[in-house]
Amino acid sequence: QTGYVTLDIGYKNTGATKSAITFLDGEQGILKYRGYSIEELAEKSSFIEVAYLLIYGELPTADQLKGFQYELSRHTLVHEDMKKIFDGFPQRSHPMGQLSSLVCALSAFYPDSLKQNQTAEELNLSIVKTLAKMSTVVSWIYKKSLGHPYIYPKNKYDYISNFLHMTFGQRTEEVEIDPVIVSAMNKLLILHADHEQNCSTSTVRIVGSSESNIYASVSAGISALWGPLHGGANQAVIEMLEKIQEDGGDTDKWIAKAKDKNDPFRLMGFGHRVYKNFDPRAKIIKKACDEILEKLGINDEVLEIAKKLEEVALKDPYFVERKLYPNVDFYSGIIYRALGFPTDMFTVLFALGRLPGWIAQWKEMKENKEPIGRPRQIYVGSTNRDFVEIEKR
Ligand code: SDX
Repeated sequence: QTGYVTLDIGYKNTGATKSAITFLDGEQGILKYRGYSIEELAEKSSFIEVAYLLIYGELPTADQLKGFQYELSRHTLVHEDMKKIFDGFPQRSHPMGQLSSLVCALSAFYPDSLKQNQTAEELNLSIVKTLAKMSTVVSWIYKKSLGHPYIYPKNKYDYISNFLHMTFGQRTEEVEIDPVIVSAMNKLLILHADHEQNCSTSTVRIVGSSESNIYASVSAGISALWGPLHGGANQAVIEMLEKIQEDGGDTDKWIAKAKDKNDPFRLMGFGHRVYKNFDPRAKIIKKACDEILEKLGINDEVLEIAKKLEEVALKDPYFVERKLYPNVDFYSGIIYRALGFPTDMFTVLFALGRLPGWIAQWKEMKENKEPIGRPRQIYVGSTNRDFVEIEKR
């Protein structure tokens, strides 16, 4: 090896960049977007206002927000030929596989995104198109899973209401958009909007660092988020809770399994690379669970199982010593379920929420003219060997 390499597998102690977007303190359980606490933003802001804040660095004025919303509503339609790609997927194929493919395919239909050294206006147009069109793609993936017709966006709606209209709307009648669901979706997507250099965001940045276009970079982020150790955990949590429910709700048995090193089972939705205290998002989502389920008149037994698991784990030395607390994924699926989403759509909803963060980080990486990401290694393979003809092997 020439030169000096520090080995940090999993980048547990490596700073990959300097960023002004999101601040998180894992010991204190603090999360801020551009200096604003997520507690305040979750209560007082909207998802699109937070998207603007993350991407452009400031809370928008009323005119800026109106203009942003106007631009988004004018770019929510996708090219009709995208339907041919939708038609190619098996109906029950996983939505995350569809989403990463369809988002990358947007680069084929909107080649303006491939231009190198885009002007600020061209970059903003690519950003608006990505935000707008992904919401349509997500809702159409859901419609396809039901065998229902796609619902087109309506310019009269704001971003979240339009998404709900396309997702739960019917071709045969105008479906009332429930303000309780709009408020819940805003809060949930705000809480997912960014999280500094997590696995999927780092993926978006490193793909973008080769000057790959925004759709290809976001598509790579979607693929990284899919994993059950990352965004896929919100689906894995519900599947775990349902398994415990079917098994008679014996939380002690499953906590013991999670602690057993010979058992690959992990308590999904628990633990975090950075938070060694409560994930502040989990606190807000847990409170929102009770509020939203009550407003919607839903009594979901898996919520009680989740609360019991949390209570038992937080007193158990195995979890306490390792500072394992509920993370953002532990309760979020319970709300998505209450809003009517199927389990395999949960991680797609995480991706929709994280999209402004991915875009903001990708934009910052370009503005800072960061070099192409290319880590080194410690080589531990074979030393010099001469080729051996196959007859002699
Ligand atoms: C997200 O990075 C981000 O910011 C991600 C995210 C975001 O917003 O982008 O916050 C979103 O991905 C949240 C995390 C969702 N994943 C899960 O809930 C899956 C379950 N959790 C884990 O697998 C784990 O906690 C990770 C992946 C989240 C973190 O893993 P680390 O930091 O690499 O820690 P580790 O795997 O080395 O675990 C440390 C110890 C180990 O035990 P020992 O070897 O010390 O004996 O804790 C144990 C682990 O076995 N452990 C668990 C556990 N999580 C860690 N044991 C049981 N159940 C768990 N959930």
